[in-house]
Amino acid sequence: LRGRSLSVTSLSGLPRWEVEELPVEDLLLFEVAWEVTNKVGGIYTVIQTKAKTTADEWGDNYFLIGPYFEHNMKTQVERCEPINDAIRRAVDTMNKHGCQVYFGRWLIEGSPYVVLFDIGSSAWNLDRWKGDLWEACSVGIPYHDREANDMLIFGSLTAWFLKEVTDHADGKHVISQFHEWQAGTGLILSRARKLPIATIFTTHATLLGRYLCAANIDFYNHLDKFDIDKEAGERQIYHRYCMERASVHCAHVFTTVSEITAIEAEHMLKRKPDVVTPNGLSVKKFSAVHEFQNLHATYKARIQDFVRGHFYGHLDFDLEKTLFLFIAGRYEFSNKGADIFLEALSRLNFLLRMHKSDVTVVVFFIMPAKTNNFNVETLKGQAVRKQLWDIAHSVKEKFGKKLYDALLRGEIPDMNNILDRDDVTVMKRAIFSTQRQSLPPVTTHNMIDDSTDPILSTIRRIGLFNNRTDRVKVILHPEFLSSTSPLLPMDYEEFVRGCHLGVFPSYYEPWGYTPAECTVMGIPSVTTNLSGFGCFMQEHVADPTAYGIYIVDRRFQSPDDSCNQLTQFLYGFCKQSRRQRIIQRNRTERLSDLLDWRYLGRYYQHARYLTLSRAFPDKFHMEPTSPPTTEGFKYPRPSSVPPSPSGSQVSSPQSSDVEDEEDERYNEEEEAERDRLNIKSPLSLGRVPRGKKKLHGEYKN
Ligand code: UDP
Ligand code: G6P
Ligand code: GLC
Repeated sequence: LRGRSLSVTSLSGLPRWEVEELPVEDLLLFEVAWEVTNKVGGIYTVIQTKAKTTADEWGDNYFLIGPYFEHNMKTQVERCEPINDAIRRAVDTMNKHGCQVYFGRWLIEGSPYVVLFDIGSSAWNLDRWKGDLWEACSVGIPYHDREANDMLIFGSLTAWFLKEVTDHADGKHVISQFHEWQAGTGLILSRARKLPIATIFTTHATLLGRYLCAANIDFYNHLDKFDIDKEAGERQIYHRYCMERASVHCAHVFTTVSEITAIEAEHMLKRKPDVVTPNGLSVKKFSAVHEFQNLHATYKARIQDFVRGHFYGHLDFDLEKTLFLFIAGRYEFSNKGADIFLEALSRLNFLLRMHKSDVTVVVFFIMPAKTNNFNVETLKGQAVRKQLWDIAHSVKEKFGKKLYDALLRGEIPDMNNILDRDDVTVMKRAIFSTQRQSLPPVTTHNMIDDSTDPILSTIRRIGLFNNRTDRVKVILHPEFLSSTSPLLPMDYEEFVRGCHLGVFPSYYEPWGYTPAECTVMGIPSVTTNLSGFGCFMQEHVADPTAYGIYIVDRRFQSPDDSCNQLTQFLYGFCKQSRRQRIIQRNRTERLSDLLDWRYLGRYYQHARYLTLSRAFPDKFHMEPTSPPTTEGFKYPRPSSVPPSPSGSQVSSPQSSDVEDEEDERYNEEEEAERDRLNIKSPLSLGRVPRGKKKLHGEYKN
């Protein structure tokens, strides 16, 4: 067998390259992850968004392996019988031995097959499997670490399943890709048992990196100085660290999601990744180019409604001049940069007040924490808003009827008498009900660890309490968003579209999907040069700020300077006119091709080919070609005026925002077309930014 060279068609002028086309009909591909059908964080997004392109390429020979949870199964998976004989046998055999293995189609784009293992029902094997792991790599797992024990069960079931499959694979070669340490035991055991499979281990972070950064250690300047065993031991994660490191070293091919994590992995895990596989997204293109702008307006109106309720009695700011900012993700206070964000907000509040700005900023923190449900004050806010809406509506009806009757009689009604006393009384009472004794709450839920919660503690320290005089208001929503929420019934995507700016000033972020998701939805965002995404954009976009990607330097300057830089970004953003924001959103959205799996999926293809050539060198040959690279490729600066407030004020016609919008759309389409042509020009290729500083020991392919 041998792969054929295939030239991939480029997307919007992005570079083309040759990839090896695999004879997928003679292969089986498995991808194993704890987040298959099970949402925890970004790994779920990787698997879920990539499914379509992978299923398109692999058809019925592609399978995802994950844990079984009843709720996930009921809501996301349609059970069916495997058509592949080896898979059917493997599922049957394991079920006969008392395991509970579920098979079906995951109801997402591409509807890939999933194999799900019920961990609990196999727990009785734990001691035996602990022995197997010890024999394979001398790693022991303490009994009190429930999560690591679950991962051992998951890994043992995976290895067992793969053994059954390879026993009956009918000459088909098997590739198995394992994501993150949670899935790694399956890889270690498969290799220890010498199963004939080609393996890939993909890490989305390193355990030690995450822990050390969370402890506020100057991580990136000490990468080569850590005594890693000691650090892992002191943090009581030595066994997990060993599982992770063994997975890395057992794999035929080791990959990670960004250059910065590749450097980290080399130091923390002592293996240089073979391939960097940047994370993509499944990009939706609307037939009407400006549809995403309309969606912004629609969803912004929903957020405005929520804000009307939340700030009842304090709505002395103009919602048309209110910007919605947000940070979202797993609650890792300093790793996700919530610490410097809050500090920057306090400085922004000062600047806006000092300059007597008429802009108000409402900032949402969407980070799940332990709660006892919504708090009463927040729910009351929405009830008050609803009541005012109902009253306004019924008075409007009465008013409208009287007006209509009067017009029919050929009269202009006496406006002083058109409302009767009762209507006025009802309205007065409604206004009284909007009086409140307390300030609008800074959190929507009753927090269990209220007094020690890091976001609330910082809010208390910096005094951002949603006072009338504050130009920056904060709302902590300690739960992921959902369209079924009684408070803010929007799903995450709708919410992002309705906001103006996503702010993700992370310190530890191997990739960082949240700003990438903003980009493909045409919403500007803040990221950092310590996040995989930020570095990727810096490398591929000549002037990221002009495209609405603000990159805070957290690598080469002090935290205080980073915070000032962030404040300046936020303040600059607040000074933009509506017209400038519309232009900027158009530009942001133009970058989405760069983040499309149809483009980035090729790194995964390369890793798969590489592992086959290493595991089965007689069958698959790999020329000594380097992995596909986009090095030197850059999106050029947008050809029209940069959307900086001073720059474009000069070029702004003196007409109203509404009139401008239509012109702007037209101009922007023209600009986009010019840029598309520019991208293909050799001048825009191969430019290396001047004065680029290198990270100590920077990773090179
Ligand atoms: N997310 C979500 N609902 C929310 C907030 C975030 O589904 O209310 C998702 C978001 O879409 C993103 C993921 O959580 O895909 C976070 O991934 P990221 O890579 O940014 O961070 P991780 O949590 O993996 O460190
Ligand atoms: C989109 C809509 C416009 C709307 C604008 C508001 O572009 O198509 O109709 O006026 O958003 O932008 P803003 O940044 O003020 O929310
Ligand atoms: C991890 C990282 C995150 C990344 C995600 C997907 O959870 O923390 O930065 O985006 O994996 O690769």
